[in-house]
Amino acid sequence: MPGSGPVSAPLVLGIETSCDDTACALVDGEGRVLSSVVSSQLAVHRPYGGVVPELAAREQLSAWPLVSEEALARAGVGWERVEAVAATSAPGLVGSLLVGLSLGSAFAWSRGLPFFAVHHLEGHLYSPYLRAGEEAGAPAEPVPAEFVGLVVSGGHTSLYRVREGAIETIAETRDDALGEAFDKVGKRVGLPYPQGPRVDQLAELGDETRSPMPSLAGTEELFFSYSGLKTQAITAIEKLEAAGVECVPGAGEPPFAQPVLDLLAGFRASAVRQILDRLTRFHRRAPFERLAVSGGAAANRLLRRALPEWAAARGVELRLVPLVYSGDNAAMIAFAALRRFRLGLTDDPLTAEVASRRALGTTGTP
Ligand code: KG4
Ligand code: ZN
Repeated sequence: MPGSGPVSAPLVLGIETSCDDTACALVDGEGRVLSSVVSSQLAVHRPYGGVVPELAAREQLSAWPLVSEEALARAGVGWERVEAVAATSAPGLVGSLLVGLSLGSAFAWSRGLPFFAVHHLEGHLYSPYLRAGEEAGAPAEPVPAEFVGLVVSGGHTSLYRVREGAIETIAETRDDALGEAFDKVGKRVGLPYPQGPRVDQLAELGDETRSPMPSLAGTEELFFSYSGLKTQAITAIEKLEAAGVECVPGAGEPPFAQPVLDLLAGFRASAVRQILDRLTRFHRRAPFERLAVSGGAAANRLLRRALPEWAAARGVELRLVPLVYSGDNAAMIAFAALRRFRLGLTDDPLTAEVASRRALGTTGTP
């Protein structure tokens, strides 16, 4: 842009196709979400009990024209108004990622627009600062220079410290992610994919004290681990079955027996306790003032009830991702790109590459 005045932030078209959702969003330079469209492939994958990568990539491509046109229409802008493009480049399913990154980079290159290849977790990390509900349509909350970010999803359970744009990984899961453990336990009782939200819902009907599941790790370590708890829950289900309790009610989901609901409640309580426990350990070790919690599993009801209390007891300012932006979406990708724009970090649309795995902080992040 000619002249020496400050360059205003662009209207960003965000694209997120890292797994089984096709998402497109328009976010303006102040972080206002003008539109956020997410098309789910649930019906396609449900018969298989999980995401089938080849089907996911094919569905991404066929969903894109409608999803992108819908996002532009809802925002009330045409393609010519887009000033920058951001697409998720990693981590995720390579075939799915390739669809979004190729479409986004081709569009940006053909129009000479700035392009941002965004790490999926970087999208989640800043998403608690997006506004929704009654605040929808307002500029995003300014992202503080320093905060601790917790991302809990189907693939990750990670704690980060963000300082002046630099992202430092504090802890990650050594095995299963939080959402993944919910999915696997739910699958064992016959729930359809994605099982996490249903397990959470069913756990509301149970009494955790009738089926307590102690958290296993008793050290001062910060890492997360959910595979032990998942196995505990599955073993407990097997014991109930051996005692004659029907644990897999089957198609149509007739009501679950009370002992199963209690077991799910015990599992969920232990899973959430582990999150609070790690936050407490880290806060004791290195007190922090702000916590931003995001990711699909940040929709968990118990977690959302427990975190405000945890934060208030320590004087920590908490930002819980709005429910509409907890699962995968493209508004968070466009928003992360705005932060990159301010740091002067753009990517070359001709050389940006996808990766199924990539540590956060290795690509262009200062
Ligand atoms: O962020 P996300 O949409 O996709 C990934 O990046 O993984 O997260 C999806 C994950 C799934 O494992 C899903 O079961 C889990 O988040 N999830 C939940 C809840 N809602 C979604 N897990 C526990 N409780 C919930 N309410
Ligand atoms: Zn995600």
